[in-house]
Amino acid sequence: MIDTVAMPAARTPILRATGISKVYGAVRALGGIDFDLYPGEVLGIVGDNGAGKSTFIKILSGAIAPDSGAIEVEGAPVHFRGPLDARRAGIETVFQELAVVPLMDVEENFFLGRELCSPGPLGWLKLLTKKKMRTQAADEIAELRVGIPSVRQRVGTLSGGQRQSVAVARAVAWSRKIVIMDEPTAALGVKESRGVQELIKRVRDRGTAVILISHNMPQVFDVTDRIFVLRHGTHAGTVKTLDTDMEQVIKLITGATLHEHGRSE
Ligand SMILES: Nc1ncnc2c1ncn2[C@@H]1O[C@H](COP(=O)(O)OP(=O)(O)OP(=O)(O)O)[C@@H](O)[C@H]1O
Ligand SMILES: [Mg+2]
Repeated sequence: MIDTVAMPAARTPILRATGISKVYGAVRALGGIDFDLYPGEVLGIVGDNGAGKSTFIKILSGAIAPDSGAIEVEGAPVHFRGPLDARRAGIETVFQELAVVPLMDVEENFFLGRELCSPGPLGWLKLLTKKKMRTQAADEIAELRVGIPSVRQRVGTLSGGQRQSVAVARAVAWSRKIVIMDEPTAALGVKESRGVQELIKRVRDRGTAVILISHNMPQVFDVTDRIFVLRHGTHAGTVKTLDTDMEQVIKLITGATLHEHGRSE
């Protein structure tokens, strides 16, 4: 196996998972995964269908509980009982099965579950916050260049790609430490996918770490610093994006050995 790319020892991972396992009936979705994410990096998670990528990030974002294993945020142990706990710890997630509410409009979706966050007991303060929030929602969506006609449009009437963009913009807008995106551009066109790639870079530039799950190899190579490969629920290796190429990553994904390149598995 290729060793995890060494990071300076002094840096504490912003997110660390150790020994993460999950079994569904007879399927071992994840078997003892060790994982590190460093501040300000973009980490790609790749692997074939069913490799365990979504299961893994659902565990990192509190959506499901692992059978065993531990998670630390900035060196401190955390126990997420749900996505809200993860959000409170600064982790925002765009799930593969988008968690948008079709009957609500774009803005309401944007602030779903956040209402309680508005500060101040006074009504006018809440109103101000809401106004600020609306501007923020519109700004984030405009930055993505997805052409959503209005933040007042019901999400159920948006196209699949527009809906996906709302979920991405929402996660980015609220992220404080980490954004996790599970195939955020699967439903997007070329222009919109580029928009998300640029957004990921902007998020990184403001110091937020990003985990990107994608089957789109050129995209993964464009935006990531490291690539973490899962194969059949195990960690097949982690490579530094600048030191690797698609052929090597595909070999890690499929399990082909790398001996002919002088590297050992
Ligand atoms: N709720 C569940 N119940 C039973 N099996 C599940 C469940 N969720 C995931 N699995 C199984 O766990 C394995 C890993 O699934 P997961 O969704 O994590 O894969 P993935 O890497 O995200 O794949 P894809 O690229 O297709 O999204 C698969 O074999 C899947 O069938
Ligand atoms: Mg998945």
